[in-house]
Amino acid sequence: MEPLAQKQIRCLTGDRPTGPLHLGHYVGSLKRRLELQNSGAEVFVIIADFQVITDRTDTSRLEENVFDVLLDYLAVGIDPKKTTIFLQSRVPELAELTVYFSNLVTLPQIERNPTVKEELRSAKMKEMTLGLFSYPVSQAADILLFRPDVVPVGEDQLPHIELTREIAARFNVAYGEVFPLPKPELSTTPRLLGLDAGKKMSKSLGNTINLSDSREDILKKIKTAMTDSGREITYDPVTKPALSNLLTIFSVVTGGRRLDSIARDFAGKGYAEFKTALGEAVDAFIAPLRERRAAFAGDRATLVRILREGTYRAREEGMKTMRLVRRANHFEYPGIF
Ligand code: TRP
Repeated sequence: MEPLAQKQIRCLTGDRPTGPLHLGHYVGSLKRRLELQNSGAEVFVIIADFQVITDRTDTSRLEENVFDVLLDYLAVGIDPKKTTIFLQSRVPELAELTVYFSNLVTLPQIERNPTVKEELRSAKMKEMTLGLFSYPVSQAADILLFRPDVVPVGEDQLPHIELTREIAARFNVAYGEVFPLPKPELSTTPRLLGLDAGKKMSKSLGNTINLSDSREDILKKIKTAMTDSGREITYDPVTKPALSNLLTIFSVVTGGRRLDSIARDFAGKGYAEFKTALGEAVDAFIAPLRERRAAFAGDRATLVRILREGTYRAREEGMKTMRLVRRANHFEYPGIF
């Protein structure tokens, strides 16, 4: 007899290919993806290229950005033999599912989405396009096409997962149980601030440490990173937000070393000494990534194969779900199509 197989956990998450991924991405989502991958979960990672055009029209670097994100994934240790990495725009089933979902969502449901509001505020466009307004519906399709159990994301994505669950529930009530209600999974590390310690670490704010940064960049960025007044190295996010953020970064790049233990190492020492050590620690974390990245970067054929095969696998999975969907909502047209 076959041994009773334990049900494999399935997870889906992804990124917009708009530029290099940074430590904030690592902490917020990449790290958890790796853990899930390495614990035997079934992981799908979407490179959400359609989402790029929700807040810009310039796509001249799209392909380059897609390959950069792919390289970032491979650099941190995402293994395409275990994890399916795929390109959103090449999975037409996503578009089809979006059509069905669009009719299950009301305008107020989207209007109250704080992430969409924030994006409209920070986007260069003055008016809301239909695409920006409705991308959460398309993102719900990104997720539900794969019927995952969990979606590891950063905090800003929570409203989207909530909407995804509402859509899944509505579909199930209207047509029968097809979709699980996927659970968001937040990182246990607090969100990283940027090196300016003002807002979150974010590409658009230019305050990031990128996973692809050179040693020189890293040392320079840390050296000029914002600190607080005073000179003691202590963790206190209220009175010393900038330094506390640097301590958190120290912890992240040293595999989760305790903040108090790191601070203790620098008792009686000043910011300069701390920053030198932090620069080295960050570089030590990035160095192996840099090596893996370089190995893949020189092998375009392999990158192409990874993206193609992942997308092919994603489509197979998507077609399975679409068969269930069309059967449930009577768009199957048996005997005809
Ligand atoms: N909106 C996500 C971001 O900006 C990217 C994304 C697209 C995504 N589709 C997804 C994340 C599905 C999780 C699941 O980072």
